Amino acid sequence: MTNNLLAGKRGIIFGALNEQSIAWKVAEQCHKQGAIFVLTNAPIAMRMGEINGLAEKTGSKVIAADATSVEDLEKLVSESMEILGGKIDFILHSIGMSVNVRKGNHYTNENYDYTMKGLDVSALSFHKVMQTTMKLDAMNEWGSIVALTYIAAQRVFPDYNDMADNKSYLESIARSFGYHYGLEKKVRVNTISQSPTMTTAGSGVKGFNEFINFSEQMSPLGNATAEDCANYCVSMFSDLTRYVTMQNLFHDGGYSSTGVTQAVIEKFKD
Ligand SMILES: NC(=O)c1ccc[n+]([C@@H]2O[C@H](COP(=O)([O-])OP(=O)(O)OC[C@H]3O[C@@H](n4cnc5c(N)ncnc54)[C@H](O)[C@@H]3O)[C@@H](O)[C@H]2O)c1
Repeated sequence: MTNNLLAGKRGIIFGALNEQSIAWKVAEQCHKQGAIFVLTNAPIAMRMGEINGLAEKTGSKVIAADATSVEDLEKLVSESMEILGGKIDFILHSIGMSVNVRKGNHYTNENYDYTMKGLDVSALSFHKVMQTTMKLDAMNEWGSIVALTYIAAQRVFPDYNDMADNKSYLESIARSFGYHYGLEKKVRVNTISQSPTMTTAGSGVKGFNEFINFSEQMSPLGNATAEDCANYCVSMFSDLTRYVTMQNLFHDGGYSSTGVTQAVIEKFKD
């Protein structure tokens, strides 16, 4: 479906690593809806070069930036405004990484250097992005900034490990920064809490296959796909959602409001 919802809008999209990435689908959909944007990822993530294919397909430039480096972010934001020919209307923060998860450290046996690294990459980077755009006065009024999150910020999913804490912090930053950005510049800030989705980051979580099946059966509509998440992001970047801000928005087929489903009850019948 294309109806030019983002015609004339300029954006920055963080986190497209490969075709599975949610940010990849968002970029494809934003392109279809008439937006122009810059793609960015950590320098190390660009080694495989897959992002260049996406850039070609969407007519975008790629700028490498480590989202934990304010210097990189300043360069990214200033260059993006030059390339796109004006201030920015939308930003997608689609970044997550836990070193404790990668190294297989249990939640009760964290290496705190790893914890701090994961927190910086997954949550504090969101603050850094917004502080940078605010200082550079890079956002247009009624601009929209979205970060992707997961329901482990509200409820315990043991194998999600310290990413749960990172997501809580991320969602809190969206509320707090959203207040200041709204007052100062009428910029809105939200998080979208997405269903489990088979991507590089997602499949790093232990037992992910079983988990995705469980969640599918616990959601009346089933798990939301990455493509549907992209559509939701487009609606949040569009002018149709101008008064939505400081929210954590569940995009999960009803999972977050469901206590139990018939499909799950059936599994416990004698
Ligand atoms: N996959 C899921 O099940 C799921 C569910 C809910 C929310 N999310 C969230 O969606 C977002 C995108 O994840 P995904 O599932 O598409 O996986 P992904 O692995 O494709 O994307 C994660 C991205 O983060 C980038 N990144 C890591 N460190 C970085 C740094 N220092 N600077 C800049 N970028 C960096 C990676 O290069 C990668 O592109 C994450 O925030 C994730 O937590 C994912």
